[in-house]
Amino acid sequence: MLTIVICVGSSCYVHGSDEVAGIFERLIETEQLSDRVELIGAFCMDACSMGVSVRVGDEVFRGVRPETAETFFYDQILPQANRA
Ligand code: FES
Repeated sequence: MLTIVICVGSSCYVHGSDEVAGIFERLIETEQLSDRVELIGAFCMDACSMGVSVRVGDEVFRGVRPETAETFFYDQILPQANRA
């Protein structure tokens, strides 16, 4: 199981963490990954930036935005989910 953690701390929240989570949820469903990927929220990951912090497995990415969330999903999440 691959764990995706989305920061819902205040900085990430104002940069659209809710929207990013919604986009990931939709794509997880579209790609039929719900038995391989779990999506959870967490408070500040000490990686605040001009976007949302997202941890994929052990790796933390910063600066994800609603506009780039779909590309991020296909570049960073789907390959790891397929290995999970
Ligand atoms: S609020 Fe998200 S990393 Fe700080």
